[in-house]
Amino acid sequence: MKILRLGKNGQVGWDLQCTLASLGSVLVLDRHGATMADVPWGIKSAAGKRVHGDLTKPEQIVDTILRLQPDVVVNAAAYTAVDRAESEPELARLVNTQAPAAMASACDQVDALLVHYSTDYVFDGASANPYSEDDKPSPKSVYGQTKLEGEEAVRVFAKKHLILRTAWVFGSHGGNFLKTVLRLSQERSSLRGVDDQIGTPTSASYIAETTASVIAQLVTENRYESLASPSLRDPDYGTYHLSCAGRTSWFNYACYVVQTARLLGMGGKLRPEAIEPIASTAYPTAAARPTMSVLDTSKLQKTFGIWSPMWELEVPKVLLQLRAQQKAEKAVLQ
Ligand SMILES: NC(=O)c1ccc[n+]([C@@H]2O[C@H](COP(=O)([O-])OP(=O)(O)OC[C@H]3O[C@@H](n4cnc5c(N)ncnc54)[C@H](OP(=O)(O)O)[C@@H]3O)[C@@H](O)[C@H]2O)c1
Repeated sequence: MKILRLGKNGQVGWDLQCTLASLGSVLVLDRHGATMADVPWGIKSAAGKRVHGDLTKPEQIVDTILRLQPDVVVNAAAYTAVDRAESEPELARLVNTQAPAAMASACDQVDALLVHYSTDYVFDGASANPYSEDDKPSPKSVYGQTKLEGEEAVRVFAKKHLILRTAWVFGSHGGNFLKTVLRLSQERSSLRGVDDQIGTPTSASYIAETTASVIAQLVTENRYESLASPSLRDPDYGTYHLSCAGRTSWFNYACYVVQTARLLGMGGKLRPEAIEPIASTAYPTAAARPTMSVLDTSKLQKTFGIWSPMWELEVPKVLLQLRAQQKAEKAVLQ
């Protein structure tokens, strides 16, 4: 399988490097692109030309996909600065809507599967129940709106698409809430956490593992051909909710991270009891966020047999990775 992965150094992109490698040849592009010599499969067209991964230049992404003719494109790149998007809506729309639209149309031309990530922030949070794929999105922010428009473009332009909506991502690589809390726990003896926004922290490694498993089921396994009924033979392209199981608030999440870090010998000045729950109104942000954005992941379970781990089980794994990284960095400095 020839796989093109966009978004090299993001949280999800980073963890995809291990999981996709088992599926075939992978070319990874960041915004700086690469040379044709970096492409791990044979291409007839001009050597010496560059391939591009900058999502602010959708026409170059199209040219790259048409030339590379991949079987699968995994787009882990996105404009993810939720608050900054309120003052940079054009840039957010270019990266989150126009680039995926161009990608989708190019994928369709070369008959490639496009795997694209979206967000729980497409919902307004007014529901009391976890959101299913059939619930009507109604974003409250520019980020959520541009991601929703990106989803819609992918659905329209790429027959073979997977849109994986995820939430509250954390991992050992890149910036995220868990790492911020861990850093602040070393520096401060008190902290405040928003207690009236409910969601599900989801590890980048779980997203990456699930992505590879779903691609394998859709592309490499013959499960559709072997089904007896022709009506069941259409591969399960479409939109899926992909998050860990459980739910929490930012406040409880922060308490859990600090408590677990202490148990693992990574604690600092901050004790979990010193974290104060606050309302969103006490922590104004440029972008409004949904108050309840838990995702119902049963469609993913039923279709691909994938069961989400509880988010609390993923936190210590990432903390241990961070501890190992810190130790390795110290060893290099000594
Ligand atoms: N983070 C979350 O909590 C969260 C929640 C729900 C859904 N999601 C979705 O999950 C997906 C992965 O998110 P993530 O957390 O892994 O994001 P992330 O850590 O913020 O990484 C974003 C990636 O996009 C790249 N990128 C940004 N602008 C680009 C451009 N113009 N051209 C090429 N690359 C560009 C970044 O490259 P540089 O490193 O060069 O900047 C980075 O590699 C995204 O679709 C996001 O919307 C994330």
